[in-house]
Amino acid sequence: MTDSSKKKIAIQLIGQVNEFPPLPNVVSRVLQVTADPESDFEALARIVEADIGFATAIVKLANSPFFGRSRQVSSISHALAVLGMDEVRSLVLAKAMFDTFSRFRDKKEGLNSLWKHSFYSALAAQVIGAKMGGDASALFVAGLIHDIGKLVIFFSLSNESVQKIYGKSEKLDDSKKEIAFLGLNHEDMGRLLVKSWLFPDCLQLAVGYHHSPESAPSHQLYPLVVRLADTFALLNVVGMEGEEGAALCLPFLDPPLADLFAAHGLPLNAVTLKELYQDVQKAFEQADDLVSLLYV
Ligand SMILES: [Fe+2]
Ligand SMILES: [Fe+2]
Repeated sequence: MTDSSKKKIAIQLIGQVNEFPPLPNVVSRVLQVTADPESDFEALARIVEADIGFATAIVKLANSPFFGRSRQVSSISHALAVLGMDEVRSLVLAKAMFDTFSRFRDKKEGLNSLWKHSFYSALAAQVIGAKMGGDASALFVAGLIHDIGKLVIFFSLSNESVQKIYGKSEKLDDSKKEIAFLGLNHEDMGRLLVKSWLFPDCLQLAVGYHHSPESAPSHQLYPLVVRLADTFALLNVVGMEGEEGAALCLPFLDPPLADLFAAHGLPLNAVTLKELYQDVQKAFEQADDLVSLLYV
Protein backbone atom coordinates (compact mmCIF):
# COMPACT_ATOMS: atom_id res chain seq x y z
CA MET A 1 0.00 0.00 0.00
CA THR A 2 1.37 3.42 -0.93
CA ASP A 3 1.93 6.13 1.63
CA SER A 4 -0.70 8.38 0.06
CA SER A 5 -3.43 5.73 0.21
CA LYS A 6 -2.44 4.96 3.82
CA LYS A 7 -2.74 8.64 4.59
CA LYS A 8 -6.19 8.72 3.01
CA ILE A 9 -7.38 5.84 5.20
CA ALA A 10 -5.89 7.51 8.27
CA ILE A 11 -7.75 10.75 7.56
CA GLN A 12 -10.97 8.82 6.94
CA LEU A 13 -10.56 6.91 10.22
CA ILE A 14 -9.82 10.04 12.22
CA GLY A 15 -12.98 11.55 10.72
CA GLN A 16 -14.88 8.51 11.98
CA VAL A 17 -13.92 9.40 15.55
CA ASN A 18 -16.43 12.23 15.33
CA GLU A 19 -19.07 9.91 13.88
CA PHE A 20 -18.49 7.31 16.56
CA PRO A 21 -21.50 6.96 18.86
CA PRO A 22 -21.14 9.61 21.55
CA LEU A 23 -21.20 8.56 25.16
CA PRO A 24 -24.65 8.81 26.73
CA ASN A 25 -25.32 12.08 28.51
CA VAL A 26 -25.37 10.39 31.88
CA VAL A 27 -21.71 9.37 31.47
CA SER A 28 -20.36 12.85 30.81
CA ARG A 29 -22.40 14.20 33.71
CA VAL A 30 -21.16 11.47 36.05
CA LEU A 31 -17.56 12.25 35.00
CA GLN A 32 -18.14 15.92 35.72
CA VAL A 33 -19.70 15.40 39.13
CA THR A 34 -17.16 12.82 40.33
CA ALA A 35 -14.27 15.07 39.25
CA ASP A 36 -15.62 17.93 41.34
CA PRO A 37 -14.45 17.66 44.97
CA GLU A 38 -17.34 19.91 46.05
CA SER A 39 -20.06 17.59 44.78
CA ASP A 40 -21.88 15.12 47.00
CA PHE A 41 -23.71 11.79 46.76
CA GLU A 42 -27.02 13.57 46.25
CA ALA A 43 -25.92 15.20 42.99
CA LEU A 44 -24.56 11.89 41.70
CA ALA A 45 -27.70 10.02 42.75
CA ARG A 46 -29.92 12.46 40.86
CA ILE A 47 -27.96 11.93 37.63
CA VAL A 48 -27.86 8.15 37.82
CA GLU A 49 -31.50 7.86 38.89
CA ALA A 50 -32.60 9.71 35.78
CA ASP A 51 -31.41 6.84 33.58
CA ILE A 52 -33.28 3.65 34.27
CA GLY A 53 -30.74 1.35 32.54
CA PHE A 54 -27.79 2.72 34.50
CA ALA A 55 -29.75 2.93 37.74
CA THR A 56 -30.82 -0.73 37.51
CA ALA A 57 -27.31 -1.90 36.65
CA ILE A 58 -25.76 -0.02 39.59
CA VAL A 59 -28.25 -1.42 42.09
CA LYS A 60 -27.72 -4.96 40.74
CA LEU A 61 -23.94 -4.55 40.92
CA ALA A 62 -24.13 -3.17 44.47
CA ASN A 63 -25.90 -6.39 45.46
CA SER A 64 -23.38 -8.65 43.73
CA PRO A 65 -21.01 -10.87 45.70
CA PHE A 66 -18.11 -9.24 43.79
CA PHE A 67 -18.44 -6.29 46.14
CA GLY A 68 -18.67 -8.66 49.07
CA ARG A 69 -22.04 -7.50 50.28
CA SER A 70 -24.88 -9.69 51.33
CA ARG A 71 -27.21 -6.95 52.53
CA GLN A 72 -30.08 -5.82 50.34
CA VAL A 73 -29.45 -2.64 48.36
CA SER A 74 -32.62 -1.41 46.74
CA SER A 75 -32.06 2.28 45.96
CA ILE A 76 -29.45 4.33 44.16
CA SER A 77 -28.66 6.39 47.26
CA HIS A 78 -28.01 3.20 49.22
CA ALA A 79 -25.92 1.78 46.36
CA LEU A 80 -23.83 4.96 46.31
CA ALA A 81 -23.29 4.80 50.05
CA VAL A 82 -22.21 1.15 49.77
CA LEU A 83 -20.00 1.48 46.69
CA GLY A 84 -18.63 5.02 46.94
CA MET A 85 -18.35 7.65 44.24
CA ASP A 86 -15.26 6.31 42.46
CA GLU A 87 -16.68 2.83 42.18
CA VAL A 88 -19.95 4.16 40.79
CA ARG A 89 -18.06 6.22 38.21
CA SER A 90 -16.23 3.09 37.04
CA LEU A 91 -19.43 1.07 36.88
CA VAL A 92 -21.25 3.74 34.88
CA LEU A 93 -18.37 3.76 32.39
CA ALA A 94 -18.29 -0.05 32.32
CA LYS A 95 -21.99 -0.14 31.54
CA ALA A 96 -21.61 2.52 28.80
CA MET A 97 -18.79 0.52 27.20
CA PHE A 98 -20.79 -2.67 27.46
CA ASP A 99 -23.77 -1.02 25.75
CA THR A 100 -21.56 0.33 22.96
CA PHE A 101 -20.12 -3.13 22.32
CA SER A 102 -23.58 -4.69 22.47
CA ARG A 103 -24.94 -2.34 19.84
CA PHE A 104 -22.48 -3.58 17.21
CA ARG A 105 -22.02 -7.13 18.40
CA ASP A 106 -24.13 -8.77 15.70
CA LYS A 107 -22.84 -6.64 12.88
CA LYS A 108 -19.14 -6.95 13.51
CA GLU A 109 -16.99 -10.01 13.82
CA GLY A 110 -14.46 -10.18 16.60
CA LEU A 111 -16.32 -7.82 18.93
CA ASN A 112 -17.19 -10.45 21.50
CA SER A 113 -13.58 -11.41 22.00
CA LEU A 114 -12.53 -7.73 22.09
CA TRP A 115 -15.15 -7.05 24.78
CA LYS A 116 -14.02 -10.05 26.79
CA HIS A 117 -10.38 -8.99 26.46
CA SER A 118 -11.26 -5.43 27.56
CA PHE A 119 -13.25 -6.58 30.55
CA TYR A 120 -10.58 -9.02 31.74
CA SER A 121 -7.95 -6.29 31.32
CA ALA A 122 -10.11 -4.01 33.49
CA LEU A 123 -10.34 -6.63 36.26
CA ALA A 124 -6.58 -7.25 36.08
CA ALA A 125 -5.76 -3.51 36.11
CA GLN A 126 -7.88 -3.08 39.22
CA VAL A 127 -6.01 -5.82 41.09
CA ILE A 128 -2.54 -4.67 39.92
CA GLY A 129 -3.41 -1.01 40.55
CA ALA A 130 -4.47 -1.73 44.13
CA LYS A 131 -1.11 -3.45 44.77
CA MET A 132 0.77 -0.45 43.40
CA GLY A 133 -1.15 2.08 45.48
CA GLY A 134 -2.90 3.53 42.43
CA ASP A 135 -6.52 4.56 42.02
CA ALA A 136 -7.89 1.04 41.42
CA SER A 137 -11.21 2.29 40.18
CA ALA A 138 -9.70 4.64 37.56
CA LEU A 139 -7.32 1.85 36.54
CA PHE A 140 -10.30 -0.47 36.05
CA VAL A 141 -11.64 2.07 33.55
CA ALA A 142 -8.20 2.41 31.93
CA GLY A 143 -8.09 -1.37 31.41
CA LEU A 144 -11.61 -1.40 30.08
CA ILE A 145 -11.02 1.25 27.43
CA HIS A 146 -7.37 0.58 26.50
CA ASP A 147 -8.20 -1.04 23.13
CA ILE A 148 -11.08 1.28 22.30
CA GLY A 149 -9.16 2.37 19.19
CA LYS A 150 -9.80 -1.12 17.82
CA LEU A 151 -13.49 -0.53 18.33
CA VAL A 152 -13.22 2.56 16.11
CA ILE A 153 -11.40 0.50 13.48
CA PHE A 154 -14.00 -2.32 13.68
CA PHE A 155 -16.79 0.24 13.54
CA SER A 156 -15.38 2.15 10.57
CA LEU A 157 -14.22 -0.64 8.25
CA SER A 158 -15.95 -3.62 6.63
CA ASN A 159 -15.52 -7.10 8.12
CA GLU A 160 -13.35 -7.99 5.10
CA SER A 161 -10.98 -5.06 5.70
CA VAL A 162 -10.74 -5.86 9.40
CA GLN A 163 -9.94 -9.45 8.51
CA LYS A 164 -7.28 -8.24 6.08
CA ILE A 165 -5.59 -6.12 8.74
CA TYR A 166 -5.52 -8.55 11.66
CA GLY A 167 -5.72 -11.94 9.99
CA LYS A 168 -2.48 -11.97 8.09
CA SER A 169 0.94 -12.43 9.60
CA GLU A 170 1.32 -14.16 12.92
CA LYS A 171 4.70 -12.52 13.41
CA LEU A 172 3.56 -8.91 13.55
CA ASP A 173 1.69 -7.57 16.57
CA ASP A 174 -1.62 -5.78 16.05
CA SER A 175 -0.10 -2.30 16.25
CA LYS A 176 2.38 -3.08 13.47
CA LYS A 177 -0.37 -4.63 11.33
CA GLU A 178 -2.47 -1.48 11.77
CA ILE A 179 0.43 0.80 10.87
CA ALA A 180 1.10 -1.32 7.77
CA PHE A 181 -2.51 -1.04 6.55
CA LEU A 182 -3.81 2.17 8.04
CA GLY A 183 -0.78 4.32 8.75
CA LEU A 184 -1.71 4.65 12.42
CA ASN A 185 -2.41 2.23 15.24
CA HIS A 186 -5.22 1.62 17.72
CA GLU A 187 -3.35 3.49 20.46
CA ASP A 188 -3.48 6.70 18.39
CA MET A 189 -7.10 6.12 17.37
CA GLY A 190 -8.16 5.42 20.94
CA ARG A 191 -6.38 8.42 22.33
CA LEU A 192 -8.14 10.68 19.82
CA LEU A 193 -11.49 9.21 20.73
CA VAL A 194 -11.20 9.51 24.51
CA LYS A 195 -9.78 13.00 24.08
CA SER A 196 -12.89 13.92 22.10
CA TRP A 197 -14.95 12.47 24.98
CA LEU A 198 -13.01 14.76 27.37
CA PHE A 199 -11.74 11.89 29.49
CA PRO A 200 -9.08 12.89 32.05
CA ASP A 201 -5.41 12.96 30.98
CA CYS A 202 -4.50 9.83 32.94
CA LEU A 203 -6.99 7.82 30.86
CA GLN A 204 -5.92 9.44 27.59
CA LEU A 205 -2.33 8.44 28.33
CA ALA A 206 -3.34 4.95 29.45
CA VAL A 207 -4.98 4.40 26.07
CA GLY A 208 -2.32 6.17 24.01
CA TYR A 209 0.71 4.41 25.51
CA HIS A 210 -0.53 1.01 26.66
CA HIS A 211 1.96 -0.80 24.44
CA SER A 212 4.90 1.46 25.31
CA PRO A 213 4.42 2.93 28.80
CA GLU A 214 8.10 3.91 28.86
CA SER A 215 7.30 6.61 26.27
CA ALA A 216 4.38 8.16 28.17
CA PRO A 217 5.18 11.82 28.94
CA SER A 218 3.23 11.74 32.25
CA HIS A 219 0.84 9.57 34.34
CA GLN A 220 3.11 6.62 33.56
CA LEU A 221 1.51 4.39 36.17
CA TYR A 222 -1.64 4.17 34.06
CA PRO A 223 -0.21 2.78 30.80
CA LEU A 224 2.22 0.69 32.87
CA VAL A 225 -0.53 -1.07 34.80
CA VAL A 226 -2.56 -1.51 31.62
CA ARG A 227 0.46 -3.02 29.81
CA LEU A 228 0.57 -5.81 32.39
CA ALA A 229 -3.23 -6.12 32.70
CA ASP A 230 -3.46 -6.48 28.91
CA THR A 231 -0.86 -9.27 29.09
CA PHE A 232 -2.70 -11.08 31.92
CA ALA A 233 -5.93 -10.96 29.88
CA LEU A 234 -4.04 -12.56 26.98
CA LEU A 235 -2.45 -15.15 29.29
CA ASN A 236 -5.93 -16.12 30.37
CA VAL A 237 -6.49 -17.26 26.78
CA VAL A 238 -3.12 -18.84 25.94
CA GLY A 239 -1.95 -19.98 29.42
CA MET A 240 1.22 -18.97 31.24
CA GLU A 241 3.17 -22.17 30.87
CA GLY A 242 3.53 -22.62 27.09
CA GLU A 243 5.90 -20.92 24.66
CA GLU A 244 3.41 -18.19 23.84
CA GLY A 245 2.80 -17.43 27.52
CA ALA A 246 6.53 -17.27 28.24
CA ALA A 247 7.05 -14.86 25.33
CA LEU A 248 4.31 -12.60 26.71
CA CYS A 249 5.88 -12.57 30.20
CA LEU A 250 9.48 -12.04 29.14
CA PRO A 251 9.37 -8.25 28.56
CA PHE A 252 8.35 -7.72 32.21
CA LEU A 253 11.56 -9.28 33.47
CA ASP A 254 13.83 -6.97 31.47
CA PRO A 255 14.30 -3.22 31.04
CA PRO A 256 12.53 -0.96 30.42
CA LEU A 257 9.41 -2.57 31.94
CA ALA A 258 11.12 -4.31 34.87
CA ASP A 259 12.80 -1.01 35.84
CA LEU A 260 9.57 0.92 35.57
CA PHE A 261 7.68 -1.52 37.76
CA ALA A 262 10.48 -1.46 40.34
CA ALA A 263 10.46 2.35 40.29
CA HIS A 264 6.72 2.25 40.97
CA GLY A 265 7.16 -0.06 43.96
CA LEU A 266 6.39 -3.42 42.35
CA PRO A 267 9.63 -5.27 41.59
CA LEU A 268 8.85 -8.15 39.24
CA ASN A 269 10.64 -11.46 38.78
CA ALA A 270 9.44 -14.82 37.51
CA VAL A 271 8.03 -15.71 40.94
CA THR A 272 6.29 -12.44 41.81
CA LEU A 273 4.86 -12.18 38.30
CA LYS A 274 3.31 -15.62 38.65
CA GLU A 275 1.91 -14.82 42.10
CA LEU A 276 0.38 -11.61 40.82
CA TYR A 277 -1.20 -13.49 37.92
CA GLN A 278 -2.70 -15.96 40.37
CA ASP A 279 -4.30 -13.09 42.30
CA VAL A 280 -5.67 -11.67 39.07
CA GLN A 281 -7.11 -15.05 38.12
CA LYS A 282 -9.27 -14.94 41.26
CA ALA A 283 -10.83 -11.72 39.91
CA PHE A 284 -11.26 -13.37 36.50
CA GLU A 285 -13.33 -16.13 38.12
CA GLN A 286 -16.01 -13.56 38.91
CA ALA A 287 -16.02 -11.98 35.46
CA ASP A 288 -18.97 -13.87 33.98
CA ASP A 289 -21.20 -13.05 36.95
CA LEU A 290 -20.31 -9.39 36.67
CA VAL A 291 -20.95 -9.25 32.94
CA SER A 292 -24.36 -10.82 33.38
CA LEU A 293 -25.21 -7.92 35.70
CA LEU A 294 -24.50 -5.40 32.96
CA TYR A 295 -27.30 -6.81 30.80
CA VAL A 296 -30.23 -4.57 31.69
FE1 LIG B 1 -3.73 -2.71 22.52
FE1 LIG C 1 -5.31 -5.18 24.64
